[in-house]
Amino acid sequence: MQSLAELGYVLAAVLFIFGLKLMAHPRTAVRGNTLGVVAMLLAMTIAMLGQQHYVTITCGLVIGALVGTTFALRVQMTSMPQMVALFNAFGGAASILVAGAALDPSSTGDTAGMVAIAASGIIGAVTFCGSLVAFGKLQELNFFKKKLNFNGQQFVNFGLTATMVLLAALLVSKPELSWLYLLIVIAASMLGFGLVTPIGGADMPVVIALLNAYSGLAAAATGFVITNHVLIISGSLVGASGIILTKLMCKAMNRSLFNVLFGVMGGSGNAEDTEKIYATVRSTSADDVALMLETAQRVVFVPGYGMAVAQAQHAVRNLAKLLEERGILIEYAIHPVAGRMPGHMNVLLAEADVPYEQLIEMDRINPTMETVDVAIVIGANDVVNPVAKNDPESPIAGMPIIDVDKSRTVIVIKRSLSPGFAGIANPLFAAENTLMLFGDGQQAVLDIAVAIKEG
Ligand code: TAP
Repeated sequence: MQSLAELGYVLAAVLFIFGLKLMAHPRTAVRGNTLGVVAMLLAMTIAMLGQQHYVTITCGLVIGALVGTTFALRVQMTSMPQMVALFNAFGGAASILVAGAALDPSSTGDTAGMVAIAASGIIGAVTFCGSLVAFGKLQELNFFKKKLNFNGQQFVNFGLTATMVLLAALLVSKPELSWLYLLIVIAASMLGFGLVTPIGGADMPVVIALLNAYSGLAAAATGFVITNHVLIISGSLVGASGIILTKLMCKAMNRSLFNVLFGVMGGSGNAEDTEKIYATVRSTSADDVALMLETAQRVVFVPGYGMAVAQAQHAVRNLAKLLEERGILIEYAIHPVAGRMPGHMNVLLAEADVPYEQLIEMDRINPTMETVDVAIVIGANDVVNPVAKNDPESPIAGMPIIDVDKSRTVIVIKRSLSPGFAGIANPLFAAENTLMLFGDGQQAVLDIAVAIKEG
């Protein structure tokens, strides 16, 4: 029976790996997700077999399934990143609780087991608190908009880390002092809070990927605690893919991980100069944009978070089709951190059946931006903000941007001049070759399409 269960776990692990592989491409991602679901179901069923506390386990499963399903059904697409952050936090909390339940003050001598318990508590608590802070930041809760960091925070974080390690060492050597676990969890939670609060603006994507990796590592450590191989494997897979994503995000943001975690956060930018920066902003109308598009040969759409908010992807695709029928070359410039989660724009545009070959990554499209007749920035702000290149004090300093400012004409569609996620003004809006089309992203694009049809 035991070897059959182990065989089932191996099968689940193989399915997880194939699922992850398929998720690497939008065309096969849905199949990959389904494989992951099947693997999880298999792993859970095997884990259930041979248990004694069926009633308790079933109650937990039902409550968990109800909470998860309600969240998944009710969440707005634009709030998906917050939900992922919250689920990461739940993962961390589960590791803390499972490892805590495995503590046995009467046990002696199982050093490896105690190390796993301490690691589970530490990584779980850092993940739990860090992810809750990330949730607050993504939800743009007022509390997290305030400056919560203080001078010397790095020293406090270092102190917390040292305390945590010492307490963990003590717990491992003296398992009978099980109350130490609570202190470890408190210190690690404070560390999670202290590590994530100072990070903001352009660095958030890196932190989100890192917390994702932590939640996997916490699960893997818990797998060692309860000697469950499939939990060790699946946790390691999440941990490894999170670390790869963290590396990709660091590269996309032109940051080192050390700099993100321990660097001094950039200033608040040019808030007091906003009026001066926007003094020369010019607005336009859908009719005028339609006229410009009709004479263009190459048009590039630059989507951002606002396209997700406006759910404008289908309208954009239809406008693109209209232009293509007129012989205009259409492309979409994809910034790696546009939106609020990795691949956000790719997912939205895939949903609207935009051909993959029209999605051009930032590094590939930037050298050709000078030959773009009209760049239509729809709901993007930080990812096209030139201060990233020329203001070393800005919170997004050093982040590569889509060089829309180099194209002949830039149309920016957004509702107002309010800032993006990093909270800073964008001189692009007042550039000589920029025209602002104020309004909701979807409505503005529909208006342009109508004007083209009538023109
Ligand atoms: P943002 O800089 O956040 O700008 C989005 C813009 O969309 C806003 O300026 C807003 O202006 C506009 N908007 C909102 N609703 C709209 C609507 N209905 N119609 C038209 N426009 C609308 O977006 P971005 O350029 O995509 O940059 C992403 C930012 O998020 C970066 O700073 C990035 O570091 C950060 N971030 C990214 C991630 C990942 S993993 N991608 C995760 C966390 C944070 P109005 O209000 O004036 O309309």
